[in-house]
Amino acid sequence: MRIGFFDSGIGGITVLHQALRYLPNEDYIFYADTLHNPYGEKSKEEVREYIFNAVDFLAEQGVKALVIACNTATSIAVDDLRQKYDFPILGIEPAVKPAVQSCEGKRKKVLVLATNLTLKEKKFHNLVNSIDQHDIVESLPLPGLVEFAEKFEFREEIVVPYLKEQLSSFNLMQYGTVVLGCTHFPYFEDSIKKIFPEEVEIISGSVGTAKNLRRILEANNQINHGSGDIIFFKSGFPVEDKETLSNYKKLLGMLDMEG
Ligand code: SIN
Repeated sequence: MRIGFFDSGIGGITVLHQALRYLPNEDYIFYADTLHNPYGEKSKEEVREYIFNAVDFLAEQGVKALVIACNTATSIAVDDLRQKYDFPILGIEPAVKPAVQSCEGKRKKVLVLATNLTLKEKKFHNLVNSIDQHDIVESLPLPGLVEFAEKFEFREEIVVPYLKEQLSSFNLMQYGTVVLGCTHFPYFEDSIKKIFPEEVEIISGSVGTAKNLRRILEANNQINHGSGDIIFFKSGFPVEDKETLSNYKKLLGMLDMEG
């Protein structure tokens, strides 16, 4: 059986990229809900409906585990999805804990970049409140990065001015770690690095999710020895056109995240 991956769009490919590093012999089915993207600017109720429709679709195809490779979808639906389906479901959360641990000793702050919906959700506030004893975590929604990614717009000359404007009222010297709290954001790591002082660390949660996935499959004795085949769906329809498929494969190749 395949492993299901779900995202509102192409952001989840950044998580799939890590899964392929840790589980190269698994076969995958990747579902991008591009028809309804971006999730981060919609109401919680509307997005919940899209998520359940997509996961119903993946469950019908038959998956042995599912990765919700979308921070927004994880924050609003992962607990309820786990009640409904009987396969393991993994989500992705902003990596606030390692960021706080690394910044506390350095007397630096943490900046979490995510979507509006993720930052508004109770799950995010509970996470921060449980970890941030010294009030060092700040956040900023960057919906423009989701739009850029979905348009395959990664050019620094377009992205850097947007980031500069969004961060113009922030004192960038005070941050030790920037947390990428949206799976679309790792595509822009180079542009983000250009804005912050060199020593600022940039982290995302995707490596943790990939390692957890491997741990669960090992524990369930479900490790596959297949070919690492991936099939892509866009909002319920197989992706067949060559250009989109080659764009997805390019995205898998263009990522160079540190493990
Ligand atoms: C979005 O669709 O707004 C981005 C989803 C995410 O948080 O990865």
